[in-house]
Amino acid sequence: MKICYLNGPNLNLLGTRQPEIYGTSTLADIAALVRKRGADRNIEVGFRQSNSEGQLVEWVHEIATDYDYLVINAAAYTHTSVALRDAISGTQIPTIEIHLSNVYSREEFRHKSLIAPVCVGQIAGFGVDSYLLALEACVRLKKATNVAKTETSNGKKKKNPFDDK
Ligand code: DQA
Repeated sequence: MKICYLNGPNLNLLGTRQPEIYGTSTLADIAALVRKRGADRNIEVGFRQSNSEGQLVEWVHEIATDYDYLVINAAAYTHTSVALRDAISGTQIPTIEIHLSNVYSREEFRHKSLIAPVCVGQIAGFGVDSYLLALEACVRLKKATNVAKTETSNGKKKKNPFDDK
């Protein structure tokens, strides 16, 4: 299985950026943690960051052909980017949205995510663990999707891969 993590604007500043909100780990520290967890589980992990919306859109297109899942911390673009949302829905890459902080306990403009409706789900508020939990979510999603595919080929209809009935 292949998972690529995309990180949006200002996440290159992690470590020194508002550590009371985002913690003290750098993005390189987080990448190393995620890659290690991936290696333990035989998962190939990609990890990229850009401050540019256009670059992130280009990467979503690329990732949709090269990877099984996208995990995205779109940072501030979460709340503004129709382009990123359209890239996800247009490519149909199964996507998990993540945030270090609990965006719902912060300013109101952070409560709205333009990309959440086109993602499988969202993980927010667990700091660095949000990144690791997303890896776990992809593993479960793959299992659930495989079961759903088998059941569909058996003639049983399953729309929600997590529906265990
Ligand atoms: C963030 C939350 C966003 O609102 C913010 O713009 C970020 C980081 C997070 O990981 O908590 O840059 O995505």
